[in-house]
Amino acid sequence: MPGDKSLSHRALLFNAVADGTAVIEQPLDAADVRSTAACLGALGVQIDWPAGGAARVTGQGLHGLFESETVLDCGNSGTTMRLLAGLLAAHPLLSVITGDASLRRRPMARVVSPLRQMGAHIHARTGDTQAPIVIKGGGLTGVDYASPVASAQVKSAILLAGLYAEGKTRVQEPARSRDHTERMLAAMGAEIESEGTATTIRPASRLAPLSLRVPGDVSSAAPWLVLAACHPDAEVVVMGVNVNPTRTGLLDILGAMGANVELLETRESGGEPVADLVVRSARLRGTTVGGALVPRAIDELPLVALLGCFAEGETVVRDAAELRAKESDRVDAVVQVLGRMGAHVVARPDGFLVQGPVALHGARVDAGGDHRVGMLAGVAGMLAEGETRVANDAVAVSYPAFWQDLATAAEEARTA
Ligand code: S3P
Repeated sequence: MPGDKSLSHRALLFNAVADGTAVIEQPLDAADVRSTAACLGALGVQIDWPAGGAARVTGQGLHGLFESETVLDCGNSGTTMRLLAGLLAAHPLLSVITGDASLRRRPMARVVSPLRQMGAHIHARTGDTQAPIVIKGGGLTGVDYASPVASAQVKSAILLAGLYAEGKTRVQEPARSRDHTERMLAAMGAEIESEGTATTIRPASRLAPLSLRVPGDVSSAAPWLVLAACHPDAEVVVMGVNVNPTRTGLLDILGAMGANVELLETRESGGEPVADLVVRSARLRGTTVGGALVPRAIDELPLVALLGCFAEGETVVRDAAELRAKESDRVDAVVQVLGRMGAHVVARPDGFLVQGPVALHGARVDAGGDHRVGMLAGVAGMLAEGETRVANDAVAVSYPAFWQDLATAAEEARTA
């Protein structure tokens, strides 16, 4: 599997302000993580990262970033923009951060507001809600912040600012989001602790560099797991996947739907649990996904709609209005793509409802420049009768080899 995207961003960002050099093996070499590397380069961080190879980051120390001569372009990457906003809020530099049309539509008040409460001078377009964001940081004070959304990007932005703030900083979430920031900053020597859905960080005088091997991304494994579960006669093995419990909601959903998922050889890499995953064809039944499970499967929820097409009865995703704030409105995108292929799927304000089972047929679909929708359309197309054409797939954002891997899976299926 391609390297974990969330970990790859964080390994570059946090090591950029560490004291010393770190080598990051198997980082995800895809557009989003390259956006992070390019922004850090513009801030004076030396990153040697040959295509497909390991990345060597020369940390500048906590206060060693330089003012960028130009606007920082985060491309399509929300993680880059929000984490960078937190880091730059702590620096007495003038920074302007922007992104592509999709990222400029996404909600940014969720980071602007808490970072301003901490003392940063921070402004954004359309009443402080959308990028570009302008930041003149420094002189922060810790906050006790109750985030209205369960978002690791928001949490991480505040925790990064908290590393530099006077006093302690606490972030409370409505449900636990992915905890990679907490694990990695702790491994680099930060004083950080979590209790329930709250995390507290204290200011640091330095971060130790952290070399690591990035495990495979469970969000990139997800299309293959779902493909195997829906296919009438398949077994898929995905090697070396990050199975951090804050990320494995899809495995629980697969189990609840009657799929057969096995975790083999659980081990550790980069401070995260890693396993090989085996999924086999199964008779699926509908399920309801909501509450604390939602942030644990947030990027995989579009694929749950596909599982619903192959399951007996109703599959409901609720409490997931956040899906509408991703690279595209993923509720509408799922309904549009799977609807064109014959699915019985309807949108709801906070998710969707799918009635199954149904035989999907091939169609011309538009992924709207959203990589997760592109991959959903790819695996749906493989399970459908007839030809599917996917426009604007954007898989290069997180999984550049997706179509090659799909072709390999198709070839294996033909010769099996
Ligand atoms: C991410 C957090 C999630 C996820 C995104 C990556 C991260 O977003 O959807 O793909 O690396 O922190 P939110 O934190 O906004 O839910």
